Amino acid sequence: LKHLLTAESLSDQEVMGLIQRAQQFKQGDRSQLNEQQFFTANLFFENSTRTHKSFEVAEKKLGIDVIEFDAKTSSVSKGESLYDTVLTMSAIGVHACVIRHWEENYYNELIESKTITTSIINGGDGSGNHPTQCLLDLLTIYEEFGDFENLDIAICGDLTHSRVANSNMKMLKRLGANLFFCGPAEWYNKKYEAYGEFITIDEAIQKVDVMMMLRVQHERHEEGHAFSKENYHRDYGLTNERAKQMKEKAIIMHPAPVNRDVELADELVESYQSRITQQMSNGVFMRMAILEAILHGKA
Ligand code: CP
Repeated sequence: LKHLLTAESLSDQEVMGLIQRAQQFKQGDRSQLNEQQFFTANLFFENSTRTHKSFEVAEKKLGIDVIEFDAKTSSVSKGESLYDTVLTMSAIGVHACVIRHWEENYYNELIESKTITTSIINGGDGSGNHPTQCLLDLLTIYEEFGDFENLDIAICGDLTHSRVANSNMKMLKRLGANLFFCGPAEWYNKKYEAYGEFITIDEAIQKVDVMMMLRVQHERHEEGHAFSKENYHRDYGLTNERAKQMKEKAIIMHPAPVNRDVELADELVESYQSRITQQMSNGVFMRMAILEAILHGKA
């Protein structure tokens, strides 16, 4: 693997290979990467806790030398572009850059460059894609159900702004899941019809195996939105009352950060049906698998 820019660019075989390798890492397997010297840099131009820090843990577990980078104290503050920042990383010998950036498809000019040789791992591009979150979500679902075929999955909430929804709907549909979308109608777009049906959360709750809740992305709403927290929770959220109607073996997912008592009730975040903390821990193992697959080609 040279770069990881979108999840859909991976074949089903590559996806399953990454899931299996992540499971091996979870069981304590070590990587041969530990025997060589590799450098990576995590370039985050948008805030992050989980993606940034779980990549850092993954890198350290693999014995990779992580080059510190803070956009605020780097030459980005003098006006240096993303392209020139990555060109510099490449020139000083950084093998792979994990990048989160507000601009959708920021990576195109980087991978088209004849000079930049560093690999790019997309840690989220605006409202575009979040392939590493998608892969850790797939790992979490696979651990639970052992397959994707014919699983009923509801993706609920701020569909318009969610790069997680964008990546997950494409991959889950391709892997054979039946998708449903829930949430405010104004955040549903006709282009999602190719992936699943738009229904209310009350219609979804009793029939799905996975309730995948999305964060309301206040920072991407130009003029705010018309819902109070209480009204959003009542009309579109996973309330305690709704959770009681879930199938016994159904699970709750959320990429986090969670707006507690908005997308889902506070008590549900750590409930027995929630897999939210498992998603976070799985992030480390999936990111180890991704880093290994990319750096392996550079040995
Ligand atoms: N889920 C996720 O991408 O979280 P962060 O924004 O904290 O990285």
